[in-house]
Amino acid sequence: MSVVISGTGIYTPQQSIDNKELVESYNKYADSFNEMYKEDISNGTLEALTHSDEEFIKKVSGIENRYVLDKEGILDPQRMRPLLEERSNDQPSVQAEIAESACLEALKNANKSVDDVDAVICACANLQRAYPAVAIEIQDLLGIQGYSYDMNVACSSSTFGIQNAVSDIRSGLAESILVVSPEICSGHLNFKDRDGHFIFGDVCTALLLEKEETSDVEGYKIISTKLKTVFSNNIRNNFGFLNQAENSDLDSPDKLFIQEGRKVFKQVVPIVSSLIEGHLQENNLSMDKISRLWLHQANLSMNQLIAKRLLGRDPLDEEMPIVLNEYANTSSAGSIIAFHKHNNDLIKNDIGVICSFGAGYSVGSIIVQKS
Ligand code: COA
Repeated sequence: MSVVISGTGIYTPQQSIDNKELVESYNKYADSFNEMYKEDISNGTLEALTHSDEEFIKKVSGIENRYVLDKEGILDPQRMRPLLEERSNDQPSVQAEIAESACLEALKNANKSVDDVDAVICACANLQRAYPAVAIEIQDLLGIQGYSYDMNVACSSSTFGIQNAVSDIRSGLAESILVVSPEICSGHLNFKDRDGHFIFGDVCTALLLEKEETSDVEGYKIISTKLKTVFSNNIRNNFGFLNQAENSDLDSPDKLFIQEGRKVFKQVVPIVSSLIEGHLQENNLSMDKISRLWLHQANLSMNQLIAKRLLGRDPLDEEMPIVLNEYANTSSAGSIIAFHKHNNDLIKNDIGVICSFGAGYSVGSIIVQKS
């Protein structure tokens, strides 16, 4: 039985921060830190903070802008993190609220209503609470019957979520499933860290997957899915429910996103390119049959290198769409934003690959064909 992606949706926050604003705020923070600790710095017990640089950020990452839920708190040199209002249990959570918006757009684009949906999988790198599952709250907000669950495989959450949805539909558990990724990455980014303060942005993406025979639109048929994980500590976040039991320091940088960026770059590129290559071979496909690569959006050079390894030449802009410049790294939503914004020009039977990769390490490759 064939499963199709029949609709996609996106929630983009209204506020955004460009590199200039981000760097100005970081530099003010660094100056006030250096002033506050000038004695420790002058006697060598503490290292002075160096300014960040707008050009450096664009050059090493390709990022020029990011959307965020709260700009003011992030740019306040006294705070350096978003300022979100804590909501009562009677109010929708932020993640459920942005997910609802993205899901409604996906349903509209698929020409379907909530009554047609059997399940919601909330697949993202950071869930805002332990329980109840955010997915069940999204299901309730939308008024969907059936079942829902949360899952987290960091930057590969969305593609692993697609795999789960395909399996659930093929097994007969459901006929139609929403896979939604509310990625509020500004909540786990250390804006005081010069090496990484520019990396992430906020967004939410949603996909409707259903049986081909129930689809009313020209969607994308899932040809094949392939997943791979290899354990690595090079991208890590130690925030968790045992922190308090372990008396650990909740303000320590390891309770936010930390990475060995260079090692990640070097190790992940070959894993991803060989996984996609093998996946295509298993499906008797060669790269000349692939019209588009919708890759995870973490680093422009990384994507260019992966595409070059696969194609044997530099990719054309239209072969490998980039949204990183505008959205920054949005964890598992990145490849889905690229797919959402850059799939309308493909024609019947064109084939493309959606591929996520990141912490774990984890890689998810989805081969799709335009219906
Ligand atoms: N402004 C100016 N200079 C900076 C800077 C900043 N904000 N941050 C770091 N630098 C400097 C460093 O101090 C270093 O200087 P040095 O050579 O004099 O020591 C130099 O720039 C290079 O730093 P480095 O961190 O090695 O840069 P990089 O070229 O590896 O790029 C990343 C950093 C993070 C952009 C890059 O490694 C990357 O994208 N890796 C993959 C990450 C990834 O995909 N992660 C997945 C996340 S889900």
